Amino acid sequence: MTLNIGVLGLGSVFAGPYSSLITKLAHEGRVRLVAGYDPDAGKRQAAVDRFGMDTAFETPAELVAREDLDIVLVLTSMNEHGALAKAALEAGKHVLVEKPMATSADEAVELQRLAATSPGHLVCAPHVVLSPTYRRMHEKVRTGEIGDLYLGRARYGWSGPWWGKWFYEQGGGALFDLGVYNLTSLCGFFGSVRRVTAMMGVAIPKREAEGEVVSVDAEDNAHIVLDFGAGRFASIATGFTIQKYRSPAVELYGSTGTLQLLGDDWAPEGFEQWSNDRGSWELFGETDPHWPWTDGLRHLVECIENGTETVTRPEHALHALEVMLAAKRSAAEGRVVEVTSTFPDLVYAPTAADGGAAARAKHDPRSE
Ligand SMILES: NC(=O)c1ccc[n+]([C@@H]2O[C@H](COP(=O)([O-])OP(=O)(O)OC[C@H]3O[C@@H](n4cnc5c(N)ncnc54)[C@H](O)[C@@H]3O)[C@@H](O)[C@H]2O)c1
Repeated sequence: MTLNIGVLGLGSVFAGPYSSLITKLAHEGRVRLVAGYDPDAGKRQAAVDRFGMDTAFETPAELVAREDLDIVLVLTSMNEHGALAKAALEAGKHVLVEKPMATSADEAVELQRLAATSPGHLVCAPHVVLSPTYRRMHEKVRTGEIGDLYLGRARYGWSGPWWGKWFYEQGGGALFDLGVYNLTSLCGFFGSVRRVTAMMGVAIPKREAEGEVVSVDAEDNAHIVLDFGAGRFASIATGFTIQKYRSPAVELYGSTGTLQLLGDDWAPEGFEQWSNDRGSWELFGETDPHWPWTDGLRHLVECIENGTETVTRPEHALHALEVMLAAKRSAAEGRVVEVTSTFPDLVYAPTAADGGAAARAKHDPRSE
C-alpha cells in the first residue's frame, strides 16, 4: 500500500524537515507526495519545481476534497490549524497537524470529537513522546525506577523566528510555539494538570520578521508552574528570549532518584539517571541520534499500514492546549486557573485485539 499525501502550508517546515522525511518514506515505497496548497504562489511554484506535485488548487477545501489523498498534513501558521484539520477529518482523511492542534478550545474540542467519530487518525504535534529517549525515560518512571514523581522542570527557547510575522501576532507566541514541547513532555510523565499559574509577557516589543519591523502582540517570554495534584509540581521556562543554554531540557525528581533529559525534548541526546541505591549518576546515550522531530508522520504511516491505534492521542494535545490557554489567562488575570480536561496515559505497544481489523475498520475509509 502506498499512501498519497497532500500538504496544506508549503513553508519552512514543509520545505525542510517534513519533505526530507516524506522523501525517505517515498524511497521505501510507503508514501507518495501528490498535492499541496499554499496561498503564496512562490511557495506553490517551489513545491512544483522540487517535487512535481499538483498545486493547482484555489482553496484548501479543493485539496482536501481530492479523493485519492490518504493523508493531509497541516503545516500552516497556527491560527489556521483548527479549521484545516477539521476540514480534512470531515473529508475522511488521516490528518497530521502541527502544534498547537488549534488556537481555541472550541476548535480543539471539535477536532477531538471528529477524531473519535471519523474514519481518519488524528496525529497532533509535537511528537516528542515518540523519541527513543523519551520512551526509555517514560518506562523508567512507570516502573518506579526513580520512585514517586514529585517535581519537574523543563525549558526550551531561542532568540525567535524571523520568517513569519504570525509568530508575533495573537494566536502565536513562545508558549504555543516552544513551551508546548515541554508541556507535552511533562504531562506525558506526570499525567493531567489540575491547576496552572503563569507569568507571561512581551519582553521585546519590536522584532524583525519578513524583512520588516513588527510590533509583538503575543507573549514572547513565559514562566509557568503546573500543579498535577497530590503536591506534585513542575515548571516551564520558555521564550523567544534565550540565546543559548547548557542545562538538561527536562528534569524529573522522584523519591529515590532523578532523570535528566539531555539536549532538547524535540532533539534528545540521551539522559542521565541518579539512583539513591547505586549512589551515582549513570549516562544513557542517545540510541538514535538521527531521530527526527517530524516522526509523527512515520508513526501515522505505520499505524495506517498495521491497522493499529496511534500512541500519541488527540486528548493529550487538547489537554496541552487547555493548559496553555489557562496559563495565558492566569498571567493576564494574576491568579491560579483550574484545568478540567484529562487524557489517558501513554501506551507504547497498542495492538488491536483482533489483529488490527477493528482499527482498520474505524480508520481506513476504503474499508467501509
Ligand atoms: N519552523 C520551525 O522550526 C517549526 C518547527 C516545528 C514546528 N513548526 C510548526 O510548523 C508550522 C509551520 O511553521 P513554518 O515555520 O513552516 O511557518 P511558515 O510561515 O514558513 O509556513 C507556513 C505556511 O503556511 C501558509 N498558509 C497560511 N495559511 C494557509 C492556509 N489557509 N492554507 C494553506 N497554507 C497556508 C503560509 O503561506 C506559509 O507558507 C507552525 O505550526 C509551526 O508552529 C515549525
